[in-house]
Amino acid sequence: MATIVLGVQWGDEGKGKLCDILSSEVQICARATGGRNCGHTVVTAGKSYDFHMLPSGLLHPETTNIIGPGVVLHVPTFFSELAKIEAQGVANCQPRLKVSTRCALNLDLHAAADRLHEKQLGKQNIGTTGKGIGPAYTSKAERSTVLLADLLDDDAFGDRIRSMERDYKLRFGGDLDGYDVEAEIKELENFREKLRPFSVDDVEYIEEAQQQGKKIMVEGAQSALLDITYGTWPFVTSTSTTFGGVMAGLNLDYRKVDSVVGVLKAYTTRVGSGPFPTEDFGEVCTKLQEIGHEFGVTTGRRRRCGWLDLVTVKYSNSVNHYDTLNLTKLDILDSFPEIKVAVDFKHPDTGEILKAYPASAKLLSRVVPVYKTLKGWNSKTTGTKDFAKLPKEAQDYITFIEDFVGVKIKWVGCGPNREDILVR
Ligand code: GDP
Ligand code: IMO
Ligand code: MG
Repeated sequence: MATIVLGVQWGDEGKGKLCDILSSEVQICARATGGRNCGHTVVTAGKSYDFHMLPSGLLHPETTNIIGPGVVLHVPTFFSELAKIEAQGVANCQPRLKVSTRCALNLDLHAAADRLHEKQLGKQNIGTTGKGIGPAYTSKAERSTVLLADLLDDDAFGDRIRSMERDYKLRFGGDLDGYDVEAEIKELENFREKLRPFSVDDVEYIEEAQQQGKKIMVEGAQSALLDITYGTWPFVTSTSTTFGGVMAGLNLDYRKVDSVVGVLKAYTTRVGSGPFPTEDFGEVCTKLQEIGHEFGVTTGRRRRCGWLDLVTVKYSNSVNHYDTLNLTKLDILDSFPEIKVAVDFKHPDTGEILKAYPASAKLLSRVVPVYKTLKGWNSKTTGTKDFAKLPKEAQDYITFIEDFVGVKIKWVGCGPNREDILVR
């Protein structure tokens, strides 16, 4: 059977914690989408572990981890992150880590192109993580890139990278921000034999695992509103991060997917550019940033913050059809006397309530949210393990979300640690 964990909003919902908990209950933890733009943090026993390229199931000694073919692989990050996790005392990582030979590479060349493209866009930039994710998926779609299989078995892989570099030079001119193609090719050649023991044929691997009845948990990266099709285009990442993207990024037997879990933060945050209807520019934002430690794991950027936008959550559910939700960071709202949630969007010109979620980023950036104000609970929820022990107003907040979205909240995060989660 397989469980799929997905981000409901604009990423950074706190997926790392639930993935960590669920990966202790499965034999295989898999990544299917995204790349090193993802940043999951797991805090446990006073230690904090950051994951970008690797699946967080590595923290559980019995769990095997696989990077599926939908992921773009940055080879140096794969090894540096592995070394860091090992140095933090996580044992026996290497035999428990696999990577699909179908993964397209994310090169330093792509990161240079990402930076140059953002520079070209100027004020209209996407605010990417600068890791080259867009160019890596573009090279894959253009069929000009290198797969892990090519790196392992085809000496012509270097020529492909040289050819991509030539194209980028024609496009951007100059020295590609100091990028050195021969150095990157040499570095990859040096990694080749080190990579071989980790490499697997993912199709065979997942099929056998599912035939043997192994349980799989897919750790989502990014989120519905950053999906290239359903997100707030063009302010999105460059691949599908929704349910469909997971099915395309790993050959799971769809009949064995028994649960799709959405991870939903109790308020809204966003990093980078793009529409954000409930964004706050005053005290609410500052308070959420400070109490919620809303700084990016990948880039250290301050996250934009605002009230929970249930219109967006409902749209996200229309795309992903969550079986259950994990509400995270409820404790961050502990000291707010009142809490607002957006329940409708009005058209900025006509004032009419919008029936459908705007596809146009321009329109979405101009909608007027209609808020419902709920009473805050003004008391500490950190570490609460029992729903009945939450303050009544916090219980009401949770049930309001459930009723509005039409999906049950099974887990509630009430603190930063792995242990601070309430299961209903
Ligand atoms: P991800 O990208 O979706 O995994 O989210 P982030 O990595 O940006 O956020 C994870 C951070 O939020 C970690 O530092 C967690 O400790 C913290 N976190 C997760 N759930 C909760 C919660 O319920 N309460 C609090 N206070 N922090 C949480
Ligand atoms: P996790 O997995 C939050 C955002 C970037 C930018 C846009 C495109 O930690 O939830 P990209 O580098 O992907 O081309 O950037 O997407 N973004 C994320 N925001 N959490 C993430 O991942 C993100 N991954 C990408 O900030 O706006
Ligand atoms: Mg993150």
